[in-house]
Amino acid sequence: MNAPPASAPLLEVRDLKVHLRVGDRVVPAVDGVDFRVAAGECVGIVGESGSGKSTLARAITRLMPNVHIAQLSGSLRFEGRDLLGLDERALRALRRARGFSMIFQDPLGHLNPTQRVGRQIAEALAPDARGGRAPQPPVVQLLEEVGFAEPADVARRYPHELSGGMRQRVMIAIALASDPKLLFADEPTTALDATVQLQVLHTLYRLHRQRGMAMAVITHDLGVVAELCDRVYVMQAGKVVEAAATIDLFERPRQPYAARLVELSTRRAPAPGREGP
Ligand SMILES: Nc1ncnc2c1ncn2[C@@H]1O[C@H](COP(=O)(O)OP(=O)(O)OP(=O)(O)O)[C@@H](O)[C@H]1O
Ligand SMILES: [Mg+2]
Repeated sequence: MNAPPASAPLLEVRDLKVHLRVGDRVVPAVDGVDFRVAAGECVGIVGESGSGKSTLARAITRLMPNVHIAQLSGSLRFEGRDLLGLDERALRALRRARGFSMIFQDPLGHLNPTQRVGRQIAEALAPDARGGRAPQPPVVQLLEEVGFAEPADVARRYPHELSGGMRQRVMIAIALASDPKLLFADEPTTALDATVQLQVLHTLYRLHRQRGMAMAVITHDLGVVAELCDRVYVMQAGKVVEAAATIDLFERPRQPYAARLVELSTRRAPAPGREGP
């Protein structure tokens, strides 16, 4: 892959429309979205249920199982390269080789129940570098990186032998195996209890900083965005209604819906502090 010009963002999405066919209706799940992520940046995507956050991420990563697409249009560029024009094979190659990865709310639904986790991570490792890439860290090292104290032991276990938080760490290890430049995290901690949520978020933040990996974090929780993200996109009914630096969103939201989200989040207990890098 050619290096992009220095000024090009890692990911640039323009006027993306993802209209889904649901029965005899067409749902404009994503309806003309502009979205960008610079290298090494963390952006948040917030908005109420059904506003199109997951569909946006899935359309970008093209992990869209079980949907009928009525329209997919606009421009989707990763390192300057047009993604909408790629076929499934080229996309798979891009996902595996330092492109982007995605983690989801329900790790169990994305892990193979009959395979030890070490094997699942090994299968996600990027193919060996002929193009001069750094050697891949082995499975155990990845498990250690995502915070397991006994990584070799975890590698031998099956998903059902792990807690929810541990499974999500395994998913993160799988996502990291291809050494992605951009990680999409779709409600990565919503299914976990509060303490574990914090630990997993801290791990994500540490990985983002240590690896210089860009992240796009989808969440209902503006507190999460406040902790992790430099910028935030607020979605409503398939559209981005506000895009701002996180600090600006909190201090002077421009749009009533964004203001309401901010008000709701600051009424709750303040968000937790960041873990050091
Ligand atoms: N597989 C699907 N089949 C039918 N409709 C879908 C499907 N996926 C998404 N939609 C519709 O697309 C719109 C956007 O949904 P999406 O899941 O992207 O929202 P979301 O912001 O991620 O919501 P949540 O916060 O609940 O995860 C909604 O109207 C939803 O009903
Ligand atoms: Mg969603």
